[in-house]
Amino acid sequence: MPKIVILTGAGISAESGLGTFRDVDGLWTRYDLNDVATPEGFARNPALVHDFYNARRDNCRGAAPNAAHAALARLETGLASGEVLVVTQNIDDLHERAGSRAVWHMHGELACALCAACGARWDAPAATRPEDPCPACGAPTTRPDVVWFGEMPYLMDEIFEALTDCDLFVSIGTSGEVYPAAGFVRVASDAGAETLELNLEASANVLDFDQQRQGKATDIVPAWVAEVLGG
Ligand code: OAD
Repeated sequence: MPKIVILTGAGISAESGLGTFRDVDGLWTRYDLNDVATPEGFARNPALVHDFYNARRDNCRGAAPNAAHAALARLETGLASGEVLVVTQNIDDLHERAGSRAVWHMHGELACALCAACGARWDAPAATRPEDPCPACGAPTTRPDVVWFGEMPYLMDEIFEALTDCDLFVSIGTSGEVYPAAGFVRVASDAGAETLELNLEASANVLDFDQQRQGKATDIVPAWVAEVLGG
C-alpha cells in the first residue's frame, strides 16, 4: 500500500485569506516573532501574546478552506485508509474543515488552549487571557496551544516514523526556512521516498526535492491530486 506524507505550511492557507509569515506583508514583517512566538516573549508580555493569537483565531474563524485543502481531503477519501497523512505547520483548522481526517498539527492549534503549569489542554474560547484559570488545576496559567521557537514541535517521533515509512513525500506552501520541518524532505528521501515540492516559488530547500512545481496552491494542488487519483 503506497503511503503519502504531505507537509503543509502557511502558503496552502494564503488564498483563504490567512497571511503567510515571510512573504512581503507576511506576519513576521509586521510583528517581531521574538515578542509573540517565543517563551521569553510570553514571559515578558503574556497579554500581547494572547491578543496576537486571539486575532489569528478570529481571522481563522472568518476564513474558509480553499481548493487546495479540498483537494487533499479528496485525495484521502480517494485512496485507502492510512495511505495519506497531512503533517501541518499551520495552526488553523482549514484541513479539518475541508474534510481531511489524518491531520497532525506539529506546531499546535488555535482551537486549543494549554495550561503552562500542568499541561492540560482544552477547547479554546474565542479569546483567551493569561489570567484564565486552567479547568484541570485551576492555575491562572493559560497559554495558546502553539509551539514557539525554542520549543519542541509535537509528535516528532511519530512524524519521523511516518517519514521513514512513506513512498512519497510532498511539501506544499512552506518556505523551507524552519526546522525541523524543513529537514523532513531529506529524512524521507534518505529512506527511499520520492519527493515533490508544490509552492508558489522555489523554497530554501528546493534542491532537496526530486521534483518541484510552482504556482498557486489552488491551481497546482488540485491538478496534482487529479493526476494521483486518475493515474
Ligand atoms: P512562510 O511564510 O515561511 O512560507 C510560506 C510559503 O508559501 C512561501 O514559500 C511562499 O512562497 C508560499 N506561498 C505563498 N502563497 C502561496 C500560494 N498561494 N500557493 C502556494 N504557495 C504559496 O510559512 P511557513 O513555511 O509555513 O512557526 O512557516 C513555517 C513556520 O514559521 C510556521 O509554522 C511558523 C513560522 O514562524 C511558528 O510560529 C513556530
